[in-house]
Amino acid sequence: MIVLVSGVGSNLQALIDASQDPTFGASIVGVGADRSGIEGLARAERAGIPTFVVELSSFDTRAAWDEALTAACAEHEPDLVVLAGFMKLVGPAFLEAFGGRTVNTHPSLLPSFPGAHGPRDALAHGVKVTGATLFVVDEGLDEGPIIAQVAVPVEDGDTVDSLHERIKVVERRMLTEWVGRLAREGVPR
Ligand code: GAR
Repeated sequence: MIVLVSGVGSNLQALIDASQDPTFGASIVGVGADRSGIEGLARAERAGIPTFVVELSSFDTRAAWDEALTAACAEHEPDLVVLAGFMKLVGPAFLEAFGGRTVNTHPSLLPSFPGAHGPRDALAHGVKVTGATLFVVDEGLDEGPIIAQVAVPVEDGDTVDSLHERIKVVERRMLTEWVGRLAREGVPR
């Protein structure tokens, strides 16, 4: 599998750790990012995993970026692509190549609170329960078929950061459990 990241990469780290076990069923053949200098890339480098960076600002159009990202992923011939805190929408070229076998993890109970600020938006809305969702990526914004969800209570006094960190603890568990299952059994249709 390929893992795409944009930030700290704690979900990536959970996948790196899980894939040390040969019974996990998947190994990480490459880690890609849309920006350089992030901890997610450093985690991959420390684990000896090849990395690549495809920055949107290096391209004249979003379509050209999408094609370059697709080509960079295709070089590694992944069976599965996991977006783990990748904060860009993939485009038509990417979906043509990897549609149906690209999954994304998101820090809310979709379809509530899609986008870049799931925990912030859930807190602002005043929900008492939120969580994380693993879904198959399609052309929508966090709209693809849902594979798994985990619930997390919102606690009195939660800040965006405390809530997001609590979500991430169960999100990492959900992600590793399901990515292993998807690698062994395939993505549900
Ligand atoms: C995760 O909570 C992930 O769900 C979220 O970014 C965080 C990345 O954490 N992704 C999104 O919000 C995508 N819309 P990490 O870098 O520590 O894995």
